[in-house]
Amino acid sequence: MDTWIIKKSDIAKVLNMQLCIDAVETSFRLYGQKKVLMPVKGYLYFESYNGDMRSMSAYIPDFSIAGTKASTVHPDNPARQMPTLTATILLIDPANGIPLAIMDGTYITSMRTGAAGGVAVKYLANEHIETAGFIGAGAQARSLLDAMFVVRPRIRKIKVYDIRENRARTFEEYCRKNYGAEVELEANISDAVRNCQIVNTSTASRQPLFDPAVVSPGTHINAIGADAEGKQELSSSILKKSVLVIDDWAEASHTGEINVPVHMGELTRNDIQAELGEIVTGQKEGRQSESDITVFDSAGLAFQDIVTAWRVYNMLIDNDDFKAQLLKINLAE
Ligand SMILES: NC(=O)c1ccc[n+]([C@@H]2O[C@H](COP(=O)([O-])OP(=O)(O)OC[C@H]3O[C@@H](n4cnc5c(N)ncnc54)[C@H](O)[C@@H]3O)[C@@H](O)[C@H]2O)c1
Repeated sequence: MDTWIIKKSDIAKVLNMQLCIDAVETSFRLYGQKKVLMPVKGYLYFESYNGDMRSMSAYIPDFSIAGTKASTVHPDNPARQMPTLTATILLIDPANGIPLAIMDGTYITSMRTGAAGGVAVKYLANEHIETAGFIGAGAQARSLLDAMFVVRPRIRKIKVYDIRENRARTFEEYCRKNYGAEVELEANISDAVRNCQIVNTSTASRQPLFDPAVVSPGTHINAIGADAEGKQELSSSILKKSVLVIDDWAEASHTGEINVPVHMGELTRNDIQAELGEIVTGQKEGRQSESDITVFDSAGLAFQDIVTAWRVYNMLIDNDDFKAQLLKINLAE
């Protein structure tokens, strides 16, 4: 009846971006094969605190694992030196319901979010990428950057814009230190999008961030920031003219990038090319030509968290040294 307590520092011993991309790609493949059970996310809004809490559960019979993540998003937190997003993951043995592990979910969330962007780029972006743009330079942007360099290692230049200049500077420092890439801090969003072959948006915006005219033909856009009702980073017109790939219709139409245009009646299911799992499994095609603009709408799904957490759990438990350093408690004591 022991439950392992797994902290961020334990997770960081075994989880790198390449492994996380593999785990997230596997999770999308299983979902595309209809081998995942996942109810829609539940949202609780803390209106007077400008925050919310989501409960996200998934069961993966092939791995005999289930779990749930409680995740909070408070966009005003950085001003109080706290992260916007915090999360905790509970892994459950589906055979008997026993809690196997309580894990930090904040680090896994940002890793799997970046990794989902990486999987989308792997399948949807053009092969030759020189310049990647980032709108928003927070926690998700950093993991997206790591994922971009795993799947497109020949990126030469990074452009970044954040409304808080200090965040853009921290991102620049991280990028130079880890990748030695040329980094341009832009004075406005349009310059961060122009002449990029990949654009990553990861802000808590509630209105389109840029004019579609600044997007070059052939660009792939990872729209990551919209993950709750009313959030939006891209205009309907760019969604309509792009090859639009979502992570899941039920989630994305409710809370992802497409949620606002779907509710306004500006976009319908017919405008969606595919879910990412359908592309990973080869059931549907993504990009048709080099000049297509492709968009991946990531609402963020529980199976990404649970498959990643399950990989991490196994890597720690299977290694005697790592296992010896973990805490364990009997919650029923
Ligand atoms: N799709 C997913 O799976 C997923 C997962 C995690 C987080 N998210 C969402 O992604 C967003 C970012 O999360 P985070 O953890 O990186 O937050 P963060 O606060 O660490 O970073 C967000 C950054 O965006 C900047 N920003 C805000 N509005 C902007 C604007 N209009 N233009 C340019 N920059 C702007 C902020 O200054 C901040 O630096 C949130 O909305 C969060 O809910 C989505």
